[in-house]
Amino acid sequence: MSLSVSPRLALPALLLCLALLQIPTTVNADKFTVGGSKGWNPNVNYTEWAMDKRFHVGDWLVFLYQPGQVDVLQVNETAFNQCLSDSPITNYSKGRSFAFELNKTGKYYFICSRGYCYGGMKLAIKVEKIPPPPPPEKMKSAAAYLSGAAALVRAAAAVAAAVLASI
Ligand SMILES: *[C@@H]1O[C@H](CO)[C@@H](O)[C@H](O)[C@H]1NC(C)=O
Ligand SMILES: *[C@@H]1O[C@H](CO)[C@@H](O)[C@H](O)[C@H]1NC(C)=O
Ligand SMILES: *[C@@H]1O[C@H](CO)[C@@H](O)[C@H](O)[C@H]1NC(C)=O
Ligand SMILES: *[C@@H]1O[C@H](CO)[C@@H](O)[C@H](O)[C@H]1NC(C)=O
Repeated sequence: MSLSVSPRLALPALLLCLALLQIPTTVNADKFTVGGSKGWNPNVNYTEWAMDKRFHVGDWLVFLYQPGQVDVLQVNETAFNQCLSDSPITNYSKGRSFAFELNKTGKYYFICSRGYCYGGMKLAIKVEKIPPPPPPEKMKSAAAYLSGAAALVRAAAAVAAAVLASI
């Protein structure tokens, strides 16, 4: 008899605890549309566009362009400075958009090969590590969650004990 009571109580209590322990985690991947509303086009100053932005590992750059008019080349620093398009790291020109995942920290350089690079159609960015984990405030609320869950476990145990005692 007593064997059938305790599992029945224990399971819901356990599920409730597990639900409470699911502290929400934040995903920080950003999608940057290169050039904002101006997209990837001639006569946009991408140095200015990138100036106030911070790029992190896992973020994406989305190049939006006129089909058939331009391309997106990932190049090295020398090629970036001199607008060299002879041996790019990546060469993309299909469709009307190109999404590029920033997989690693470091510098990334992009140019357009169709002559517009000389006019400034080039982008250099620095990708940083994902910012450090939760600030103190969040840690505090996580601790509150945990102590709340612990209190619940104690309460559930007390109820179970009471039920068992009453049998
Ligand atoms: C990019 O690749 C296409 C074919 O995949 C090629 O026709 C074009 O010349 C390449 N452009 C550059 C700048 O490498
Ligand atoms: C950079 O790219 C250019 C061509 O775009 C190439 O000639 C040069 O060797 C590359 N430099 C390095 C260090 O890879
Ligand atoms: C980034 O990593 C993903 C998965 O590991 C891979 O599929 C993708 O090609 C990488 N992107 C670049 C630009 O290297
Ligand atoms: C783009 O803007 C930067 C910063 O304002 C400036 O130094 C640079 O000369 C501009 N580039 C072009 C091609 O106008």
